[in-house]
Amino acid sequence: MKVLMLNGSPHEKGCTYTALCEVAGELNKAGIETEILHVGGGAVHGCMGCGGCGKLGRCVYGDDLVNAAAEKMKEADGLIVGSPVHYAAASGAITSFLDRLFYSAGKYMAYKPGACVVSARRAGTTATLDQLNKYFMISQMPVVSSQYWNMVHGSCPEDVRKDEEGLQIMRTLGRNMAWMLKCFEAGRNAGVCLPERESERKRTNFIPAKQ
Ligand SMILES: Cc1cc2nc3c(=O)[nH]c(=O)nc-3n(C[C@H](O)[C@H](O)[C@H](O)COP(=O)(O)O)c2cc1C
Repeated sequence: MKVLMLNGSPHEKGCTYTALCEVAGELNKAGIETEILHVGGGAVHGCMGCGGCGKLGRCVYGDDLVNAAAEKMKEADGLIVGSPVHYAAASGAITSFLDRLFYSAGKYMAYKPGACVVSARRAGTTATLDQLNKYFMISQMPVVSSQYWNMVHGSCPEDVRKDEEGLQIMRTLGRNMAWMLKCFEAGRNAGVCLPERESERKRTNFIPAKQ
């Protein structure tokens, strides 16, 4: 089994990476492969809402890692998204990245466990977690939790390594995700099918008032 981890920080080996590594360590101990993809280091287009992905099956932009991540998600069993807190929100890069990844490849996420981790110097962590969890919750992904909200604190990796509680939260998250993945595998092996989907997807924009 494999979990794809996205690092949405501009810093390849910064605080977010340090947190992701702590989660990865527990997944690896449980025999689950991990890959950390650094997606926050370069320019990431925002979604243009062109609808091109609906026709092409991939995002129209090919000059960043969105389509590569989508390909990886076809095979991956779970997804972890990491972001620093920028102005009490996720980084601009990961926001643009996830908008396009989920819009063009949401079907590869469904029924796969998802979790997010955030790193801040001080504040804005829970707002950022709320923001990131919403991608999972609109995509039929079971959300993995920990003993506390998934956050570490620091301005540099050395700070994060001193955040003993934050690191424990990351390790617990890793073990919880490993447990969930193994439960799902056991279910599959025992013949538990994915839930049925209704044939017609309703898209109600408003509910007309009764006459
Ligand atoms: C543009 C920008 C905005 C930031 N906004 C916040 C913030 O709102 N709250 C906070 O606690 N830290 C904020 N920080 C600090 C980072 O969240 C923090 O240093 C984080 O741990 C860095 O993670 P990284 O090394 O993975 O990039 C900000 C940093 C930058 C560059």
